[in-house]
Amino acid sequence: STQDLDVFYDTVLNLVKKAGELINEKISSRSKLIEMKSGDIDLVTETDQQVEKLLIDGLSNQFPDHKFIGEESVAGGSQCILTDAPTWIIDPIDGTMNFVHSFPHSCVSIALFVNQKPEIGIIYNPMLNQLFTARKGKGAFLNGSSIKVSEKTNFSEALIMMEFGTSRDQDKLNVVHENQKILMSQVHGLRALGSAALDMAMVACGAADAYFEYGIHIWDIAAGELIVTEAGGVVMDPSGGEIDRFSRRVLVAGTQEIAEKLVKNLVQFHPTPRD
Ligand code: IPD
Repeated sequence: STQDLDVFYDTVLNLVKKAGELINEKISSRSKLIEMKSGDIDLVTETDQQVEKLLIDGLSNQFPDHKFIGEESVAGGSQCILTDAPTWIIDPIDGTMNFVHSFPHSCVSIALFVNQKPEIGIIYNPMLNQLFTARKGKGAFLNGSSIKVSEKTNFSEALIMMEFGTSRDQDKLNVVHENQKILMSQVHGLRALGSAALDMAMVACGAADAYFEYGIHIWDIAAGELIVTEAGGVVMDPSGGEIDRFSRRVLVAGTQEIAEKLVKNLVQFHPTPRD
């Protein structure tokens, strides 16, 4: 019910702020404990793990029947399954590479899905004090002020966000380079911030006009999906169909026109395995 959701929202917001304090304490340290995951540029730090624990412990204490999909829990062997039960989808630090380098573009990304649909989305960059929030049907906000996507429809005026990703797979890298070349000559500018969630937040607040990536995971995009749609934007598969949240592919845009232009131009890639 709405009342339950109010309680879920207040609880998670408090925990996210605590997580932000932890990230702010650790960001400037030059000696972060770093481990590699799927490869040498797919990273995790002890802070990622601490933040995920803080969030899951805090939420499961209050809501013992809730389920979780957490980036670091999945890395530790937990299954990545979304049922109809209330499920928190968590990326404790999205933009871990940035965090490792003290580059201040990382965030906590957390979403609540109920009946496999997003109800709450929060993206918080504690270094720059940017708190993006959304609840289904209630709009999207940055630090409490309402945000809207840009209304740009002209591809040549669009600022597009793309990412280099965390894989050195040659086929994947070729597609990234190909798309960069194709877009460079057509759009206003290309940007890569190093955090999928913050890229989506930039589209939601109208600072960028679109973002796409192959190779992301469900926890990178779960909160951003609701924040972008509540800000008036579109979320889809990069081939133009409905988003498949486990396919590791995403495209978001401020307008349908910009989204369609991207779909028409992009070289496609299907990462394996699925989430
Ligand atoms: C990564 C970041 C990065 C994107 C990768 C993600 P992580 O998330 O969002 O910008 O290119 O696809 O996996 O590993 O820092 O949580």
